[in-house]
Amino acid sequence: MLQVQNIDVYYGKIHAIKNISFEVKKGEIVTLIGANGAGKTTILKTLSKVLKPANGSIILKGNDIKGIQPHDMIKMGMAHAPEGRRIFSQMTVLENLEMGAFIRKDSKDEQQKDMETVFRRFPRLKERKNQIAGTLSGGEQQMLAIGRALMSKPEILLMDEPSMGLAPILVDEIFNIIEDINKAGTTILLVEQNANRALQIANRAYVLETGKIVTSGDAKELMNKEEIRKAYLGG
Ligand SMILES: Nc1ncnc2c1ncn2[C@@H]1O[C@H](COP(=O)(O)OP(=O)(O)OP(=O)(O)O)[C@@H](O)[C@H]1O
Ligand SMILES: [Mg+2]
Repeated sequence: MLQVQNIDVYYGKIHAIKNISFEVKKGEIVTLIGANGAGKTTILKTLSKVLKPANGSIILKGNDIKGIQPHDMIKMGMAHAPEGRRIFSQMTVLENLEMGAFIRKDSKDEQQKDMETVFRRFPRLKERKNQIAGTLSGGEQQMLAIGRALMSKPEILLMDEPSMGLAPILVDEIFNIIEDINKAGTTILLVEQNANRALQIANRAYVLETGKIVTSGDAKELMNKEEIRKAYLGG
């Protein structure tokens, strides 16, 4: 589904991503874990073309994304639920979800079906569908950001800290939903501070330290590694 080969990303002189390579296979949940500032968000932004790598290549479904316009990434089947709940705050919940489906060429009926699925996953959004999105609580905005990404019917979904700022009971809920989305056929690249939960649902993981991948492997195996437990899983 996705192959990242030897990319470097800079912010001016800051070398944020250093020769990183990884892949995500169709149907997988892959997680990137690492401390604050390790470069996780930078990687997702580079994949969705918000940032440009200085070198290396990113291959999505066999195509180098170099020549693709950022707004066309969604047509290529990639959706990004960004960090910090970037929703359209002046629009209603319903309008935000409709914006998510904007690029789809299938029937309104199909889109309506997916809207119902989003509302089933996030009943709170249904109750509040006519509310201005900017007035939703933080957690509700997080749900809306995910719902909106789902409305584009992505083949691969990039999720940046989906559990951030959620109450513990909602954290469980969100991880269940991520697993459901995956089971329904969407490949997922998940970035999480909550490494324990991310590793529980992931197939594979890559561990980042200051812009470099230091370890990778089967998620369950990584969870049992002493040095990973100590550094990322609270011992
Ligand atoms: N716009 C920017 N200009 C300069 N440096 C930046 C910019 N955005 C990020 N950085 C730096 O790049 C590094 C990686 O940041 P990034 O946001 O990718 O980390 P992260 O792993 O997502 O961290 P967190 O877990 O805190 O979200 C950090 O050192 C950060 O300060
Ligand atoms: Mg981040």
